[in-house]
Amino acid sequence: MTLEPTRGDKFSFGLWTVGWQARDPFGDATRPALDPVDAVRRLADLGAYGVTFHDDDLVPFGSTESDRDARIARFRKALDATGLVVPMATTNLFTHPVFKDGALTSNDRSIRRYALRKVIRNLDLAAELGAHTYVFWGGREGSETDAAKDVGAALDRYREALDTLAGYVLDQGYGLRFALEPKPNEPRGDILLPTIGHALAFASTLEHHDMVGVNPEVGHEQMAGLNFVHGVAQALWQGKLFHIDLNGQRGIRFDQDLVFGHGDVLSAFFLVDLLEHGGLAGAGQAGGAVGSGAATGGPAYDGPRHFDYKPGRTEDADGVWASAAANMRTYLLLRERARAFRADPRVHAALAASRVPELAVPTLSPGETTADLLADRTAWEDFDPDAAAARGYAYTQLEQLAVEHLLGAR
Ligand code: GCO
Ligand code: MN
Ligand code: MN
Repeated sequence: MTLEPTRGDKFSFGLWTVGWQARDPFGDATRPALDPVDAVRRLADLGAYGVTFHDDDLVPFGSTESDRDARIARFRKALDATGLVVPMATTNLFTHPVFKDGALTSNDRSIRRYALRKVIRNLDLAAELGAHTYVFWGGREGSETDAAKDVGAALDRYREALDTLAGYVLDQGYGLRFALEPKPNEPRGDILLPTIGHALAFASTLEHHDMVGVNPEVGHEQMAGLNFVHGVAQALWQGKLFHIDLNGQRGIRFDQDLVFGHGDVLSAFFLVDLLEHGGLAGAGQAGGAVGSGAATGGPAYDGPRHFDYKPGRTEDADGVWASAAANMRTYLLLRERARAFRADPRVHAALAASRVPELAVPTLSPGETTADLLADRTAWEDFDPDAAAARGYAYTQLEQLAVEHLLGAR
């Protein structure tokens, strides 16, 4: 077992994560600003493969053109020197007060037009730096009062914006796909596209829906009390998991952005298991222990493992890098634990006892029609619901095996 991250693990970090100065609504920054070039060097030393950014993380809002060019050139040099890649980029459409009522869905049309221009400018840079994914997190797209925001009209404008931007990307021949990042609230009282489900449904209405997926974040679904593993599984099932934001969260409260695994660690275990191996229905079958989702009953994810966390406000500079390393180490530990879980014959037996593999068997037989089903007496007339109801599923022993693997007891 190796717990040293390698480039092949595809770990990436946002400049805004390790660079967070820990300003919060109640207190000032506790750390100095971090030069993006230093972030690139340190992340590369720690074994990350990628770095991501908002336009304003790299080039402060309002910089002159020549300053912008110089900053981009320095960043590029650091990328070339370290071999770090830029798998994803995104737009800051939330910090400047101009976006206080949103950007792509502001009631003010001139602000929506300005926001489109801001996105397009950074799409050009993202493509230039070789990014494959462009994230849309609409932190300010929302409201505090239902009197002020016509949600249908706002969704029309959101769709118009994404159709326009996707059209631009296609016209330019950029190899970028869009990933919508849901969040239920914060900073707005209520944010549009609050969950994975809302985002998937919205994406299906877009003109270029094939190039639009999701970038779910652990903490965001958990803030809404939802099961993140289920949400990610559905996104995978729909071929829409274009990117993922890994972090930690403890229950329904403000967005904590803790280190990955430093929240609901059992959920983190099942998440890593899902990303690495796909669904459980095929576990234990030939080739099913480790590897591609196809062998394990469902699709697995092979994109960046992106950490969108915030180093604690209590950390100094050393603590920042220790926390960055902690994300990757926790992921690798969970991956190792998930592999052991998948390889354990006791787990295979428990899965069978719980009839987990049976869920992969279609409910109708090959070629069977509805008429055949209606003619099948075993499905109705001779079926004994009370006998079927009496059978236990033995899920607790299966869950306990997972917990024991997670805790290193097996
Ligand atoms: C949050 C969000 C943001 C976005 C990022 C990308 O913590 O509320 O996750 O960090 O991911 O701004 O647009
Ligand atoms: Mn977050
Ligand atoms: Mn995020």
